Amino acid sequence: MYKVGILTSGGDCQGLNAAIRGVAKSLYEEFDDQVEIYGVQNGYQGLINGNIRRMSKSDFSGILTLGGTILGTSRQPFKMMRVIDDVTGVDKVKNMKANYKKFGLDCLVVLGGNGTHKSANMLSEEGLNVVSLPKTIDNDVWGTDMTFGFQSACDIATDVIDCIHTTATSHGRIFIVEVMGHKVGWLTLHAGIAGGADIILLPEIPYDIEKVASIINKREAEGKNFSILAVAEGAISKQEAAMKKKELKALRAKETYPSVAYKVADELSNYISNEIRVTVPGHFQRGGSPCAYDRVLSTRFGAAAARLIKNRKYGNMVGLRNGEIVPVPLSEVAGKLKKIPSDYPLINEAKDVGISFGD
Ligand code: F6P
Repeated sequence: MYKVGILTSGGDCQGLNAAIRGVAKSLYEEFDDQVEIYGVQNGYQGLINGNIRRMSKSDFSGILTLGGTILGTSRQPFKMMRVIDDVTGVDKVKNMKANYKKFGLDCLVVLGGNGTHKSANMLSEEGLNVVSLPKTIDNDVWGTDMTFGFQSACDIATDVIDCIHTTATSHGRIFIVEVMGHKVGWLTLHAGIAGGADIILLPEIPYDIEKVASIINKREAEGKNFSILAVAEGAISKQEAAMKKKELKALRAKETYPSVAYKVADELSNYISNEIRVTVPGHFQRGGSPCAYDRVLSTRFGAAAARLIKNRKYGNMVGLRNGEIVPVPLSEVAGKLKKIPSDYPLINEAKDVGISFGD
């Protein structure tokens, strides 16, 4: 009997259960039912603590459309993985290897984002057979054109911007919608365009607040008394981008804004007299059922992961490149962040339809 452990790690997102189902159903097919699947609870935490349970075929039925993850998840920062716990004395890496062995696993399937992939690569280097799937609403995993979760979150963020339009136009207000994404702006860029935002602020394109204000004033002069800004959680001003890491950290520590949207609102109020409101949809963006695109992508990734396992092609993530599902070595994925490139065509296309990036 071939034994496979499966875990979900990091922030949840839509399509996790669809992917778990895809992996499981395809494994049963590939191995003619000669496979046992073990659910590792709450991400790497479960592998560290031995919180692992044998699952049955029926566990994977009826979960295609379910949000969240039936396995639970947690954040286990990679930089802490090799640090021995002061209080408990737990050696996380040693425990993970021991539990993998104790449960007789032949392979571990890991569903996660960037941090998760660093740890997956480490476990692979430590000798465990690992296959992974890229999930995250941020779409920032290197080696794949698309992660599952992104399109569903994009639909939600787009809906938020759509809905804000009615109040923005009726009241003639400036609305700042904060979209998730601390390090990258994929979600904000796509939802901003899809929702018809007038200004999009991204971590990859530092903004100049005077420029942002001038766009709002220009729109006003053209008779448009409202403006909508889609602002990524990690949006950064030109001054901040020019600071040294330490300086920026010190500045952030002094600031009392609940989040970046409030900071942008405050900065803007020095330049414009319009009423400014902030909307932060937050974890709504990661919630609910996966959209059709994510259900299909998760299923494809799941089936591809099972095929890799059947062919003993461990040490790989499944990725999407130009519409094809391909294996990508974990060693190439680990430690890289897929940011929006400066020559990304969509940026110029957005500018062509009058969207400003405040730069
Ligand atoms: O990585 C996904 C993500 O939703 C980011 O967009 C966001 O910055 C972060 O997770 C929020 O993390 P948490 O749910 O731990 O607050």
